[in-house]
Amino acid sequence: MIKEKANIAVFISGRGTNLKALILRSKKKDCNYKIAYVISNKKNAAGLKFAKKNRIATIIISHLFLKTEQKKLAKILITKSIKFICLAGFMKILSPYFLNFFKNKIINIHPSLLPKYKGLNTHLKALEAKEKFSGCTIHFVSKKLDSGKIIAKKKVKIFKKDTLKKLEKRVLKEENKLYPLVLEKLIRS
Ligand code: GRF
Repeated sequence: MIKEKANIAVFISGRGTNLKALILRSKKKDCNYKIAYVISNKKNAAGLKFAKKNRIATIIISHLFLKTEQKKLAKILITKSIKFICLAGFMKILSPYFLNFFKNKIINIHPSLLPKYKGLNTHLKALEAKEKFSGCTIHFVSKKLDSGKIIAKKKVKIFKKDTLKKLEKRVLKEENKLYPLVLEKLIRS
């Protein structure tokens, strides 16, 4: 039983399987974190439903997310002593202004073996390049997209007959396993 659980905020934009994996792990007695906030830039993000079902506070940010709003959100998270912010399918680029409030505290999961295939359509790029392996990477978020310091990677085999869907499913399964594990390790270190 862990008494002092670290507060975590998760930022999402969509379906939220990684959020779900993080929440499910957080419910275990021996887990060292709890999710204090789920933040979304999409009010209809499917992941929000799961957050609400688990009585986790949610915050919707606006499309523009101007500096005043960024400052307000940063203040809320700092007041809650948020230890890490986990981006999980968050499709908005955070400004250097916002990043500055949380130096070395924002991490992201990306569906490729970085530094290969930054940005979108990672599985398509890996298939087109006839890669033998793809996978996922957890990294610190820096000003440059998908380029911050790498924390952990998980390799996934690509088979000759793979389709986009099959590969995405295989990688996502590993993402969902890796994210809670890496987060807990980071908190311990
Ligand atoms: C994942 O593949 C993640 O690596 C990428 O966006 C996807 C989000 O999936 N950044 P989900 O919303 O967590 O299901």
